Amino acid sequence: MADPRLESCLALHRANHLGEAEAGYRQCLAAGIDAALPLSGLLLQQGRHAEVVDLLEPRCTTRVDNANMAINLSIALRKTGRNDDALRHARQASELAPQQPAAWNALGLAQLESGAVADALHAFDRGLGLAPGHTALELHRAKALRRLDRHREAIAVLERVVGAAPDLLEAWRDLTSARNALGLYPAALDSATSALRLAPNDLDVALEHAVALLNAGQTGNAIKRLEKLEADPQTWMWLAQARLRDNDVAGARAAYERAATHDPDNPFIRHFLAAIDGHLPEAVETDYIRKLFDDFAPRFESTLVDALAYGTPKTIAQFLERSGVTSAQEVLDLGCGTGLMAAELAAPGRNIDGLDLSERMLTQARAKGIYRALHAAELLEFLRGSEQRWDLVLAADVFVYVARLEPVFAAIHDRLAVGGHFVFSVESSDGADTQLPPQTGRYRHAPDQLEQQLLAAGFSDVRREPLTVRMEVGQPVRGEIMLARRGD
Ligand SMILES: C[S@@+](CC[C@H](N)C(=O)[O-])C[C@H]1O[C@@H](n2cnc3c(N)ncnc32)[C@H](O)[C@@H]1O
Repeated sequence: MADPRLESCLALHRANHLGEAEAGYRQCLAAGIDAALPLSGLLLQQGRHAEVVDLLEPRCTTRVDNANMAINLSIALRKTGRNDDALRHARQASELAPQQPAAWNALGLAQLESGAVADALHAFDRGLGLAPGHTALELHRAKALRRLDRHREAIAVLERVVGAAPDLLEAWRDLTSARNALGLYPAALDSATSALRLAPNDLDVALEHAVALLNAGQTGNAIKRLEKLEADPQTWMWLAQARLRDNDVAGARAAYERAATHDPDNPFIRHFLAAIDGHLPEAVETDYIRKLFDDFAPRFESTLVDALAYGTPKTIAQFLERSGVTSAQEVLDLGCGTGLMAAELAAPGRNIDGLDLSERMLTQARAKGIYRALHAAELLEFLRGSEQRWDLVLAADVFVYVARLEPVFAAIHDRLAVGGHFVFSVESSDGADTQLPPQTGRYRHAPDQLEQQLLAAGFSDVRREPLTVRMEVGQPVRGEIMLARRGD
């Protein structure tokens, strides 16, 4: 039975009289009554994490037997940026009280913070084994699943969470992110709308809702909302994208320029301002490409292949077959992405190496189990630094992200075995030169010009074939496949 003075403080705490409860707890402590645990709970409730650390840390060096204290201390340490210590105390708590779901929750959160995502998932699973359907554990489990790119499972969990706790803003927001990651835009708009209903004055929630409108094709509505919001570079960038979608190039430039005053080195802003101004960047825009495809990776195959009818890898494979290029053993897939090209070309006795700037794309390529080696690298740097030789070098839908191809052609020529082949696809420009239309942000090359550049790099036997790269806004995107041979 607790001391009656402590009992009355606990009653005040339960009745949400936090000020009085805190004063009472402190009097208890002064009188030698152990009120540190409930006081720490009260402070956590109010986000006073540093005070929790000051209160519990000295006690936890001596009282290592109290799992609840270790849990509260772990939460506070994590929130104050001392995650290694948070991890240590959470681990201690889960060893002291393995039957307590909160210990697994604290451990999972500290592991998530430290990047040990698979361990975190395991900890949340342990907690849920003890408390099936526990809302916080489910919510945190879904965060771990999203970090592992297991968005579909995260969505199923989050749909359960919002069903059980429809007022939980964080769950609606996480559900929106997970649905966006998979390109489930109408559903993402639904969850973003629910979040906005719960937090109509929260700027971040309002931005997520406006982006959901844009993704769902409600461009006009999105622009109206974004114009009202205009608050930070992030919002201006979305406004610029929305205006581009609406063909308002001048409006888009104004929004990007505003964003650039705050974030001048942002690779997206630089890329699109270059596109609007018609200045093609000299160097490969590695940061832009990496970020673009790290974001795109989870929905790449569902969006591009399923929704936009992207079939370039298959078309390239058929073109090679028709051209009699069928016996290459050593193959290099530049910008291999999720591995669609290797899936078309895999054959017994053939070794396919791949490279890509985006780690998250490579993770998916690796999961296909087809490549001999996969490298996280920029293609031109990789080729220049390599001494290997390949019989066939491929680049499917990669040069839409590279402005200048002459140095790339020269480097590929160097790395090809004599008699080897190089095949790639491009989007075709309307003129005689490379273009960068701001609406797509992708380079369109002039195939005649590329043919000259191939010949200048030493290639011969150039063959070309028209290609429909994909459907965009219901229209086919025109391109070409080009094949060239390294002569003797
Ligand atoms: C549209 S995806 C195509 C992926 C794959 N080739 C396919 O056809 O499915 C373009 C890929 O090229 C990669 N990429 C673009 N420029 C690159 C560069 N300079 N170096 C390495 N990878 C690059 C991107 O990260 C992305 O994964």
